[in-house]
Amino acid sequence: MERINFDHAATTPLHPAVIDVMVASMRDVYGNPSSVHAAGREAKLALNQARDRIAARLGCKPQELIFTSGGSESDNTALYGVAMAAWLKSGKQVKPHLVTTQIEHHAVLHACERLERLGFEVTYVAPDEFGQVQADDIVAALQPNTCLVSVMYGNNEVGTLQPIEQIGARVRERGVLMHTDAVQALGLVPLHLASLPIDFASFSAHKINGPKGVGLLYARTGAAWDPYLYGGNQERKRRAGTENVAGIVGFAEAVELATSDAESAAKIELLGQIRHTLWTELCAQLGAHVVLNGHPEQGLPHILNVSFSGVPTESLLMNLDMEGILAASGSACTSGSLEVSHVLQAMRLDHERARTAVRFSFGLGNTIEQAQFAAHQIATIVTRVRTRR
Ligand SMILES: Cc1ncc(COP(=O)(O)O)c(C=O)c1O
Repeated sequence: MERINFDHAATTPLHPAVIDVMVASMRDVYGNPSSVHAAGREAKLALNQARDRIAARLGCKPQELIFTSGGSESDNTALYGVAMAAWLKSGKQVKPHLVTTQIEHHAVLHACERLERLGFEVTYVAPDEFGQVQADDIVAALQPNTCLVSVMYGNNEVGTLQPIEQIGARVRERGVLMHTDAVQALGLVPLHLASLPIDFASFSAHKINGPKGVGLLYARTGAAWDPYLYGGNQERKRRAGTENVAGIVGFAEAVELATSDAESAAKIELLGQIRHTLWTELCAQLGAHVVLNGHPEQGLPHILNVSFSGVPTESLLMNLDMEGILAASGSACTSGSLEVSHVLQAMRLDHERARTAVRFSFGLGNTIEQAQFAAHQIATIVTRVRTRR
């Protein structure tokens, strides 16, 4: 049975070219980049070359990029780092306020909850029914003690893109720092960090056919923040810990592949076609029993979230798994649990729609034929489960 992986928003397989550069790096570059001898210098060179390559692709200065262990650490560092710096700057007199949204990944939401437990204030702005947050609502939430606004670039459950340029510009006018979790957007929307009105951005290698456990925090020069991890002098004293050299080298290769113009345009076009094929086939075969969750036009090309009325999410996912079709109920952290997604709840979808939602997400190796085949399999399962009830 051919396995069809429609769960690329959870993680992606390594690109063959990434494997090649990582294997070569693991074999040939064994030094610690902090060592001053020849092996250390080789590792340092590999690290700096990787940083330079990524900076060129993302449109920022190499020194504005800090390697981390992934998107979660980058999110935590931005939120905690800015909040701490603002609190210390006030002489520990004012506990700062942060603004974020109800649809963020748990890496942001749970970090905010921790900040609240530490006495910081957080406002969670609600999205509309399409999962989009409005700039006016973000601005209305600002307070004199707001130190940071964090709004994700594209949502990982329903794919909805947020008006980041608009929000960032309004937030900047008010002199407040801006962070965006761009983990799902990298390689799928054009990103030129220096031209965006944002100060911090989070990225993760394993969402773009790179290795797991490697990420990036972009921190604009001059934006005040405190490190999250203390120890050695790595990353210009902004993130302690011996660098994952092979992972970082693989990340740079993945960024280059994901953002190189020709490949990127063709990839986005294909992902859009796969998404469109699955959706139109499902509509044709199941009619009124399917409904799209998320924004009909302003969405990431690789995510399709659909509710199948009368068929509980776990039941469909289990049946799909038996047919070799991998899909998810939302973010990787909530999949496997029976909890209704916080994103769908925030969109105020009715209970039936929220408890029957499935996320299909596409990437390397997927084809239009797979979408056609999967649509047929899904329709068969849905009809079977619905008639059995
Ligand atoms: C939007 C978003 N932010 C953050 C993360 C966490 O990234 P990582 O798995 O690299 O920690 C994910 C992963 O699911 C994500 O989709």
